[in-house]
Formats: sequence, C-alpha cells, structure tokens
Amino acid sequence: MTGRGPFSADYPFESHFTDVGGAKMHYIDEAGHGGLTFVLLHGNSTWSYMYRNIIPHLLPLGRCVAPDLIGHGKSDKPDIDYRYVTHYAYLEKFFAQLGLKNIVFLLHDWGGGLGLNYWSHHQEDVRGIALWETFVRTFDSWDDWPPDLLEGFKAFRSKDTGWDLIVNKNVFMEEVLPFGIHRKLSDAEMTAYLEPHADPAHRKMLYVWPQELPIEGEPADTAEIIRAYVAKLGQSQVPKLLFWAKPGAIVPEETVAKCKKDFPNLEAVFLGESGHYIAEDFPHEIGEKVAAWAAGL
Ligand code: BEZ
Repeated sequence: MTGRGPFSADYPFESHFTDVGGAKMHYIDEAGHGGLTFVLLHGNSTWSYMYRNIIPHLLPLGRCVAPDLIGHGKSDKPDIDYRYVTHYAYLEKFFAQLGLKNIVFLLHDWGGGLGLNYWSHHQEDVRGIALWETFVRTFDSWDDWPPDLLEGFKAFRSKDTGWDLIVNKNVFMEEVLPFGIHRKLSDAEMTAYLEPHADPAHRKMLYVWPQELPIEGEPADTAEIIRAYVAKLGQSQVPKLLFWAKPGAIVPEETVAKCKKDFPNLEAVFLGESGHYIAEDFPHEIGEKVAAWAAGL
C-alpha cells in the first residue's frame, strides 16, 4: 500500500534564480522558523517539484532550499555535456553563492550522488543526511542492478538504442518515472514532470544520466567519486536517516541491511510499497519523520 496523501499537485513556492557560471539555476528558498537549512536535491527525470508535499513539514524547523539541477525543472538548459562532474561543478557554485551552512540534506537518486560528494568535502557544514534510492554503492556487475530495470537500462546505455529511447521516444519520462511510483500521478502532476523536457532538444540530460551510472567500473571518474564518499560514510558519525520501500529499485532490502552494517549512526525507516520515486508515494511520511529526527540534531 502506498502513502496516505493528500497528494497535492500545487507548487506554491516563489521562484529564485542565480547565475552559476553563465547559466541560471532555479531554486526554491522558503524561510522557516528554526536554525536548520534543509537542502533538498532531486535526481534524474524530476526537479524540485518532487519536494512540494515534503517542504511544509520542514518549515517549522528551518529554511528549505531546493535547487533544480542545471538542465532540469525551471533551470537553464545550456548546450553542455551534462556529465556528473559537470553537474557537480554547477552545484558547488550554487552552494558557495548561497553560503549554505547548518545543512540537513534530503537526497534522492543523483541528488544523493551529488549531495553525498558535497558532504564528503564540507562535513563541517552538514548536520544530518536523510536519503532514499540513491548511490550508496557502486554496481560491480549488471547482476547487481535491479532485475526489473535490467533490460531497460542496458538499452539506455547502448550506443545503438539509448538516444532513440530517451531523446526521441521519451521513455524515461513517460515510462520509467510512472513505473517507479506506485500510485497514479494526477494529470496535473504528470504535466509538471513532463513540461521541462517536452522539447526533445531538452532531453540530452535525461540520456546522459544513465551513462553515468557506476556499473562495471564505468565511467571511471564517477565510480571513483562514489567509492570515495561511500568509504567516508563508513567512518562518519553524521546522523543518517535512510528511507526505503519494497521493491524499491537501487536500494532494495539487501542494500539497506548493508548500509545498517557499514554506516554508523544510521536509522532505516521502511515506508511500504514503492519503486524508485518513493517521495511521490510517501511525501507526508518522509516529511514528518525527517522533521521529528531533525528536531533532535
Ligand atoms: C537512476 O537514474 O538512477 C534511476 C532511475 C530510475 C530507476 C532506477 C534508477
């Protein structure tokens, strides 16, 4: 069973923009009442819209900052390579410009790949990390990749089929996203997700992300960055809150067990049935639990 809702389609936040090296990055910056700064990072095929039903739970405890990665949501879509390292360079500029401290991260998918790397280099600025369905490991072989997604992601990474599926046929937005959410998104919600990539000229970023997945050691630079922050997570007492669902996708039950064993000071919270995009099935459960946990940080 998925979460209890209500699942509002509204995005009632003021838009802010900042220049990060020649491109405008869009972000939400909602003033809260406490001393924490929640920084909410999204991943492939979503944008800060994914956090619309979570943010209201966090505002009694602090400010909420949710950027759209470059090329996503309402951010600019420049003609760049959209590799992981490029996203990271833009995001680092964003953090520096806003001078973010006292951070409590909420991280999903590549937002986790980026946020955990940022944490590993700025540990003094981070008070806690809430995360789900993100890169807490590398995938040494395709056997480690979720069986339900194996065929699809092999095709996305194939030089013969990947571009056609993701850019021409829009399969990531129209099939992977709804497959990973166990309730049916309303038309308004689906429109909000589809709109930023409605033009095929704005889908290269969706294509590049699967090429960045750290599978069989490739790409080597991205895999190395993930291995490095995972090693640091294993040595750090920073409070960690790991949400998971069944069947999930990249963080199934076995990976949760490994995280509990390998990462100190981690609490794991099972939510129910969902796929990769847990925050669309359980926004209130995540928001309430993060708020209760963050109150003790
Ligand atoms: C990913 O981009 O990491 C991803 C997206 C959907 C399902 C699983 C993984």
